[in-house]
Amino acid sequence: MKKFFQIIFMFFFSFLPITPVMAAPDYPLIINYRPLAGDQGAGIDTVKSPITITFDRPMNAATINTSTFYLKDSNNNLLNTTVTYDSNTRVATLTLNPASTKLNTNQVYTVFVIGGVSGIKDSNNNPLPGNFQWSFATGTSDYFVPHRNYSTSTAKCGICHQLHQAPEYRLVRNSSTSTLCFTCHDGSASNYNIKSLFAAGTISFHPVAGISLAGNSDKLRCVDCHNPHNVNDNRPLAPAASGALSYSRGVAPPARPAWSQVAEGDWNYKISISYQYELCYRCHSTWDPANPTHAALTLRDIAREFNPNNKAFHPVEADSPNTKGIFVSGYSASTRIFCTDCHGSPVSGAARGPHGSTNVKILKGLYDNNTGTGNSQHLCFRCHNYNAYAQRDPYRDSNLTGFYNSNRGNLHAYHTDKLNSIRCQYCHSAVVHGLNSNKHLILNTSLESNPYKSSIAKITYYQESSGNYSANNCRVNDTNLCSAHSN
Ligand code: HEC
Ligand code: HEC
Ligand code: HEC
Ligand code: HEC
Ligand code: HEC
Ligand code: HEC
Ligand code: HEC
Repeated sequence: MKKFFQIIFMFFFSFLPITPVMAAPDYPLIINYRPLAGDQGAGIDTVKSPITITFDRPMNAATINTSTFYLKDSNNNLLNTTVTYDSNTRVATLTLNPASTKLNTNQVYTVFVIGGVSGIKDSNNNPLPGNFQWSFATGTSDYFVPHRNYSTSTAKCGICHQLHQAPEYRLVRNSSTSTLCFTCHDGSASNYNIKSLFAAGTISFHPVAGISLAGNSDKLRCVDCHNPHNVNDNRPLAPAASGALSYSRGVAPPARPAWSQVAEGDWNYKISISYQYELCYRCHSTWDPANPTHAALTLRDIAREFNPNNKAFHPVEADSPNTKGIFVSGYSASTRIFCTDCHGSPVSGAARGPHGSTNVKILKGLYDNNTGTGNSQHLCFRCHNYNAYAQRDPYRDSNLTGFYNSNRGNLHAYHTDKLNSIRCQYCHSAVVHGLNSNKHLILNTSLESNPYKSSIAKITYYQESSGNYSANNCRVNDTNLCSAHSN
């Protein structure tokens, strides 16, 4: 609630009584109020973003009540409210009653503050010199949103910028952009607590300035991925960029041959991305490798892996030709997915986005040598049915997975039964973005190395036989473990 006080301070003098002398006047003054007059994005949840006025001196609490501080909607209806006064902060607060009610979205409201003999008085019973009122419009969010709906009658720019001189480039008022963003995105004035995603216990994260975790090299800023002037709450289907990435910059890949790398000049630079992955490719591809602050040079070319001309790929850039599988609710063989369906915080309900995770590689769940051996929280099972792929029952007889034959039923379940548990990386690649090998199976000799092939990989030859597999379709390098394949 204290967030905007210093900022608003300079903009609201217009309705204050004029004080010709410097000595404190013998009547109380309102030195601050929220939401801003003329604001078009006020919060609708009056508990999270209450309507407040701050006085310059101790007040007589008995005079601050629902007859001297009240709220009306645009039809002049008086709203049912609760008014309190905190003598420590000298802030009077108005919330809706009952507290669970919210203001309507996109509506104009007017706040009335009554002065004079029957109005608000200070602790010496000096009255507020006159009535005043101000109006604001709500937005769609619980909180005041500084990012959009700018108008000439609000001080929204001043939330983030200051005039003439400032501690950060582009007249940004905090010492780093992440410090600025964390003034609200720390759980205090936004539903999205991004700061907590970089707190103790975080194992991997995008290295944004202002974060003091071991290994942080301050390479990035929030504004490398977001445009703070334009974000909104649109939530389109994958892979379209969400409102959080409105007017973010990125690069679009051309159609390209399987498992190739795009020449730097063939990328299409976009000042406003259409798809989320275009943001990621700006740094995680062959685009602009000469710019070390923007290119994640130590990491792989991710655009090579998601190429829709590869034999297998997760459906980020395009639908995959695969039609098989047993999925958890919300996913199917024809769903498209975001990079951020796999990369983000594993905590349910946490803010979306690849900010930080308690898993390696900013993953929402682990994928390692042991995936398949009993932990249903691992990454794959956010979308692929755990029981169908890593348990013997109840999907033993299902023919929905392509790894099936009519004698043995679901061969994922059959192998789980024979080996007690299977490890996905016995057969599938340790990299699941995409591979120029069917179903991400790890056989292509050019990929027979880290990181694509894990140390526990077993199959050395495989003949696709979807729906009709026999032991002869696979050769393995460990016939002790896989005795049926000693052919
Ligand atoms: C939520 C915070 C926030 C608000 C509100 C905000 N800005 Fe910015 N603005 C920033 C940040 C952060 C940058 C730095 C961007 C960078 O360094 O790439 C910036 C950069 C700019 C720039 C430099 C050009 C650019 O786009 O990078 C201009 C001009 C600007 N802001 C004007 C405004 C005006 C005018 C308003 C009000 C209508 C405003 N800003 C409101 C955060 C904000
Ligand atoms: C004055 C408080 C404040 C500041 C400062 C601020 N934000 Fe926000 N931001 C909000 C609020 C409020 C929302 C609306 C969502 C909500 O209700 O929490 C929001 C929304 C967003 C969203 C869109 C989320 C969505 O999907 O709806 C992004 C992205 C975002 N902010 C990034 C930033 C960045 C980057 C900065 C720093 C340059 C920043 N914000 C600074 C308060 C703030
Ligand atoms: C490497 C790129 C990247 C960086 C750096 C980054 N973000 Fe994000 N952020 C994203 C993406 C991508 C999303 C959207 C995820 C989605 O749409 O599901 C997102 C989402 C958000 C949201 C909305 C969350 C929600 O659940 O809707 C907020 C707020 C936000 N980011 C703030 C920040 C702040 C503050 C910083 C700096 C500390 C920051 N981001 C740094 C990529 C980034
Ligand atoms: C502005 C540049 C930039 C953008 C855009 C960007 N990244 Fe990154 N990313 C980086 C940098 C820099 C690193 C750290 C590289 C390093 O450690 O050497 C990184 C690291 C990562 C890592 C590995 C983290 C680890 O612990 O090794 C993942 C995963 C990742 N990014 C995913 C994404 C996704 C998904 C997107 C798009 C939503 C994205 N990135 C967008 C710059 C970017
Ligand atoms: C199906 C889940 C999934 C999706 C979707 C996904 N990733 Fe990953 N990503 C992983 C896993 C698992 C790892 C760790 C294993 C590896 O290195 O591939 C990883 C690793 C990474 C790394 C680290 C690479 C390195 O060299 O260490 C980056 C960068 C990355 N992903 C970016 C992206 C981007 C960009 C997208 C979207 C275009 C994306 N990921 C989509 C699962 C996914
Ligand atoms: C965010 C959801 C999601 C996660 C997490 C995920 N997948 Fe998938 N996966 C899909 C979807 C959706 C498809 C179907 C693609 C299609 O048919 O177009 C798919 C397809 C596949 C395919 C067949 C691909 C092809 O081209 O034929 C394999 C193999 C696979 N996933 C393995 C894995 C493994 C192993 C993991 C764990 C590391 C994993 N997936 C994690 C959503 C996911
Ligand atoms: C013994 C080798 C083997 C192991 C171990 C294995 N798979 Fe498969 N998997 C296959 C084969 C072969 C296919 C190709 C089926 C086809 O041709 O359609 C496949 C296909 C898939 C598909 C594509 C959709 C479908 O059902 O056909 C997914 C998803 C998948 N596997 C996930 C997993 C997961 C998750 C694990 C670990 C729990 C795993 N697999 C372990 C051999 C294996």
